[in-house]
Amino acid sequence: MISGAVVVGLGLALGLGMSPGMALAQSREGTSPAPSVPKALAEKVEICAGCHGADGKPVDKTIPIIWGQLPGYIYIQLRDFKRGDRKNETMQPIASALEKDEMMAIAEYFSQKPWPDIGQPRAPKAVAQKASDAEHSVGCTGCHLEQFQGTGIMPRLAGQSREYLAKTIADFRTRARGNNPGMSDLMIATPEDDLAALAEYLAGL
Ligand code: HEC
Ligand code: HEC
Repeated sequence: MISGAVVVGLGLALGLGMSPGMALAQSREGTSPAPSVPKALAEKVEICAGCHGADGKPVDKTIPIIWGQLPGYIYIQLRDFKRGDRKNETMQPIASALEKDEMMAIAEYFSQKPWPDIGQPRAPKAVAQKASDAEHSVGCTGCHLEQFQGTGIMPRLAGQSREYLAKTIADFRTRARGNNPGMSDLMIATPEDDLAALAEYLAGL
């Protein structure tokens, strides 16, 4: 079991953009501050900013928000793009150039960023009700957690781009996104109008 103090310490170190190791090294040296992000990592994440946004707001609505996403989930997606289990012409070559440790460092880096507000409207009452009924019959929050905040390899969905959600749900249904057959089965079993309501509702959370 990890003690609360360790978790808090770790959280603080990471919150400052440092790995626990770097935080230790710095406190030992005690002089010039280490750069908060190693150069090699900084160069890699700069590439991502071109599409996912330098301020975390994607440059296009079909590009997902990755700032503040769960690190375990980000890592799995990069791995699956590289393996070709999740097919995407844009992300496949980018992920293919990354090694596992780089993917993990990148995932950690983006997960520490604040989730951006891309200003999507709250769903109208009738849509929210339809989404809530669908949510209760499928049990989405059993995995994606209350308020769709995500956990572990289950992504945060709250406030994600509506267009991206609609696209990726459609991709699950056709199995063009084939990296999680369980999610595909669930999406296929859920009526399309319920899914449309869910995408609108989730975007506005
Ligand atoms: C040229 C544009 C572009 C660049 C550069 C780019 N991405 Fe992407 N990224 C996309 C698009 C488009 C998608 C959505 C793919 C899809 O629809 O399946 C995506 C999806 C993702 C996802 C999946 C998110 C989710 O919610 O499932 C992750 C993680 C990701 N990118 C990380 C990165 C990282 C890390 C970098 C830099 C190393 C990067 N991307 C660079 C365009 C880009
Ligand atoms: C049994 C657990 C489980 C349930 C129930 C579940 N999900 Fe998921 N969901 C997952 C996992 C795991 C992933 C990540 C799949 C992957 O690695 O590609 C995911 C991914 C997603 C994504 C992709 C997000 C992104 O950023 O690309 C969407 C959208 C989604 N789920 C919506 C839903 C909705 C809507 C429901 C309810 C109708 C639901 N899920 C129910 C486990 C679940």
